[in-house]
Amino acid sequence: MIDFIDPIYLLAVIVFIFGLKGMSSPKTARGGIVAAGVAMLIAVVATAAAFFFPTTASLLGLSGTPALVNLALIALGIGIGGGLGYYAAKKVQMTAMPQMVAAYNGMGGGAAAAIAAVELLAGSGINGLSVAGAVIGSVSIAGSLIAFLKLQGWMRQRPIVYPLQQPTNIAVLIVGVFFGVLSVVMNQGVYLLPFFVLTLLFGILLTLPIGGADMPVVISLFNALTGIAVAMDGFSIQNYAMIVAGILVGAAGTLLTVLMARAMNRSIPSVLFGAFGATEEVGGSIQGSLKPIEPDDAASLLAYAGQVVIAPGYGMAVAQAQQKVKELVDALEAKGVTVKFAIHPVAGRMPGHMNVLLAEAGVSYDHLYDRDEINPEFATTDVVLVIGANDVVNPAAHRQGSPLFGMPILDVENAKNVLVIKRGQGKGFAGIENDLFYKDNCRMLYGDAQAVVGKLIQSLKTV
Ligand code: TAP
Repeated sequence: MIDFIDPIYLLAVIVFIFGLKGMSSPKTARGGIVAAGVAMLIAVVATAAAFFFPTTASLLGLSGTPALVNLALIALGIGIGGGLGYYAAKKVQMTAMPQMVAAYNGMGGGAAAAIAAVELLAGSGINGLSVAGAVIGSVSIAGSLIAFLKLQGWMRQRPIVYPLQQPTNIAVLIVGVFFGVLSVVMNQGVYLLPFFVLTLLFGILLTLPIGGADMPVVISLFNALTGIAVAMDGFSIQNYAMIVAGILVGAAGTLLTVLMARAMNRSIPSVLFGAFGATEEVGGSIQGSLKPIEPDDAASLLAYAGQVVIAPGYGMAVAQAQQKVKELVDALEAKGVTVKFAIHPVAGRMPGHMNVLLAEAGVSYDHLYDRDEINPEFATTDVVLVIGANDVVNPAAHRQGSPLFGMPILDVENAKNVLVIKRGQGKGFAGIENDLFYKDNCRMLYGDAQAVVGKLIQSLKTV
């Protein structure tokens, strides 16, 4: 029988790379996701086909094609996993997307750890790599689980800190790895139990001191770790599809982690060990007062503006206001107003959060401007409408000593007028006051973003 698996895996990998490339731009992201899904399907079908057409290499025990012995069990697993995944993805709210990503990513880490466990128990594969894959996979599933619970609000979001935390974590990891090495050296499966208990515990302990605020960065890091664990398993069982796909996910996840941390002006070690948000932060002394404005007056300001820039943030996602925002844009453009969106890279709670919501509402990409493009324009902008954004427009980022210091922000304060939609005195993600709201050129439009934008649309009809 001809070995057909590897060429098909190669095809899957090529499609997967095209998928990843597609995800680099909002315009092509949807196609990228579909391509990546197709690549995964090709790889799964090719692997399953080996059940019916065993290759010469796999018959000789030389191939990385997994031993498929129980088709019914495999079909059951695919059915349950696929069904649950489909149902959850269909039902998930856009705002709950980060915890869903955390959960799915954790599954990947768990699968990688399980494969490594099977290899270690069987005493086959390359054991050193299996131990490494098992450690990384276990940390990923346990850590992702804590990330999920925190983001879902099912456990305390603030960092959980206690004395000697980091030394304890390191000790747990070292002892855990020691048992893994022992199981290989002594060729005794019994050591695998303390090995997995301790590495899973390490994943939990590592994630406890990380606050909800830093969680998306951590999820991205666990995603990268899952990729690396899969690649190590791939090396261990000589499965090329796993090696390449794992390395790609590891590389893409690492890059995303670094970019997100940079956009939040945090270093990866400070995210992992800094317990950011463990204490209440105090902003600098703020001058001025909060000045409310009625929707009718705000609508007039908007209608007579030459250019309006909308700066959306997490509150727009919470309020699911994107559809109304699109209607507002249409209404303003019908009056001859130029409307642009200022998109901050970490507005919301996940990369591309605003892009996804606005795309869903049908706002065309040519309306969207990233921070570097739009910042020089604020000085000549008549009105900036901030919708549920806080930290990403907080001028405290320019003030030394502020927890936000150094974070690149949207300089909306430079506009002639700033209107801010938010429900009340709620702080942003970083938990600090926002100087912007107290500036002379700033007016507050209090209420839920969807309701307030709806009122603005109504008021615009009478202007
Ligand atoms: P935030 O700073 O979180 O502020 C959101 C604001 O929206 C709050 O001040 C809140 O004030 C308001 N809000 C909430 N619900 C609302 C509703 N239904 N209607 C109207 N307003 C509502 O948001 P941001 O400016 O987008 O900043 C994002 C933050 O998340 C940054 O600190 C960033 O570092 C962090 N972060 C982002 C990411 C990614 S990748 N995006 C990852 C990790 C962390 P009220 O309660 O008064 O309404």
